[in-house]
Amino acid sequence: MNVVDGLAAGRQAFGTRPAGAPTIRCLGVSKVYETIEGERIHALADIDLAVHEGEFVSVVGPSGCGKSTLLRLLAGTLPKTAGEMFLRGSPITGPRRDIGIVFQTATLLPWRNVLQNTLLPVDVQGLDKTTYTARAHNLLQMVGLAGFERKYPFELSGGMQQRVSITRALVHDPAVLLMDEPFGALDALTREQMNLDLQRIWAAARKTVFLITHSISEAVFLADRVLVMSARPGRIIAELNVNFSRPRSLDVMGTPEFGRLVTQIRHDLAASGALD
Ligand SMILES: Nc1ncnc2c1ncn2[C@@H]1O[C@H](COP(=O)(O)OP(=O)(O)OP(=O)(O)O)[C@@H](O)[C@H]1O
Ligand SMILES: [Mg+2]
Repeated sequence: MNVVDGLAAGRQAFGTRPAGAPTIRCLGVSKVYETIEGERIHALADIDLAVHEGEFVSVVGPSGCGKSTLLRLLAGTLPKTAGEMFLRGSPITGPRRDIGIVFQTATLLPWRNVLQNTLLPVDVQGLDKTTYTARAHNLLQMVGLAGFERKYPFELSGGMQQRVSITRALVHDPAVLLMDEPFGALDALTREQMNLDLQRIWAAARKTVFLITHSISEAVFLADRVLVMSARPGRIIAELNVNFSRPRSLDVMGTPEFGRLVTQIRHDLAASGALD
């Protein structure tokens, strides 16, 4: 039994499977922010979860319930208040190279072109430019941006910018892709297209994906498993398995099973007081 499973012994965690160390593991994780005025804000309470290699997990929850906080804890950019967190079996103690992150806005550097923005982690981490430039070209092709390598961010639509931020998150071949509302700023049609693209990228890249979204239908469409969080302090209050075969087309959203899952999630959110 490795250290993660050892710590987990006797605990019931969302996503626990009998075999194999999970890629992401949280045990009793809480976060309390202390403001400059001395106020204590209990953002997350007792989060137990496991995400397995190659799995696509979505998280939905009301605004302010601690979703971004959880993502920042996993990214190692924010210290936890209590609990244990592991990525691929090792404790999360700070920022690390084996993750890629996509935020709600693309946050591209305006003075770097598409290829240079994609290669940012390669420059920051001092990786071999030749190897990773070939990889960057492949990723740009995968997201439909072949031919746009020399364009600058101001020359791109919002959807195209967000595609670049996805290639930037994947270029150094991280084990885990963390996404925080990646399509929240896009119009509905672009968002649906991005959902299809993300599914394709995930199928090709075989990454473990942890996606935070406000959209219940997006969560269900993309994920193998949806975690539902309560209002602050955020706790995981429900877990739903999504068993549609892949690749999924947008038509799946019209099926009774899809409707049932969406209704169940709404019900779980309402029961926790998150919806009126
Ligand atoms: N640096 C901070 N200092 C103090 N409080 C904070 C800080 N960051 C977040 N919070 C508070 O912690 C709670 C959770 O914030 P968080 O951003 O994680 O929520 P969220 O679920 O991502 O919300 P949204 O869906 O609106 O993005 C909120 O009440 C927020 O005000
Ligand atoms: Mg957030």
